[in-house]
Amino acid sequence: MAVPSANHRDAWFAPWFKSILEDTKYIFDTQHGTPFIFPGTGTGGWESALTNTLSPGDKVVTFRFGVFSHLWIDMMQRLGLDVHVIDQPWGEAADEARLDEVLRADKDKKIKAVCVVHNETSTGVTSDIPFVRKVMNDNNHPALLLVDGVSSIGALQFKYVCLLGGGGDPILYGQLPACTLPVTSNTLNQTSCVCGRCIQQVPFSLTHTLFP
Ligand SMILES: Cc1ncc(COP(=O)(O)O)c(C=O)c1O
Repeated sequence: MAVPSANHRDAWFAPWFKSILEDTKYIFDTQHGTPFIFPGTGTGGWESALTNTLSPGDKVVTFRFGVFSHLWIDMMQRLGLDVHVIDQPWGEAADEARLDEVLRADKDKKIKAVCVVHNETSTGVTSDIPFVRKVMNDNNHPALLLVDGVSSIGALQFKYVCLLGGGGDPILYGQLPACTLPVTSNTLNQTSCVCGRCIQQVPFSLTHTLFP
């Protein structure tokens, strides 16, 4: 109460905010990614990741092994994506061998993205994202790797740099459960991290706003 409230329009705010963004690289364990704050829910993060990198009709491959992966698939289908679902018993982690089969069969490299929930909160099971990345690289596949890190980034070890590989680059996001970011009304602040390729590939209005 004794401290004057901070004005986000004051001159100090922009450099301070930039320094916070710089510090967020720590939780993604990256020097190369571009972190930004996305004011929205985890569901909003899913939508933002899908709609900013993909178009209706694009082929994507993903795993279903719990509630959140299921809900993300539902969104992909509603957005008109052509979704190849690898269904697994709930409680299992991503089966990289099955992903390998799908990518191997995709001779014309039509698949645009591989989407994985890193930690499936509903079952508590964590998938091996570097291994998923390795399978993509081994197949020399150019698809993007989209990772839901809502309940993992900031809590589980996550090394962004180990995901960067020949084939494609990831877009990642972490959010309230693991990062324990503040809740304002119904809006959760989400910290996202994207690679240079994503930024070049799509008209990222969010990042353009933050990094004019
Ligand atoms: C792994 C995962 N993804 C997505 C979500 C959706 O986040 P929200 O409820 O903020 O939309 C959650 C929520 O707990 C989650 O645990």
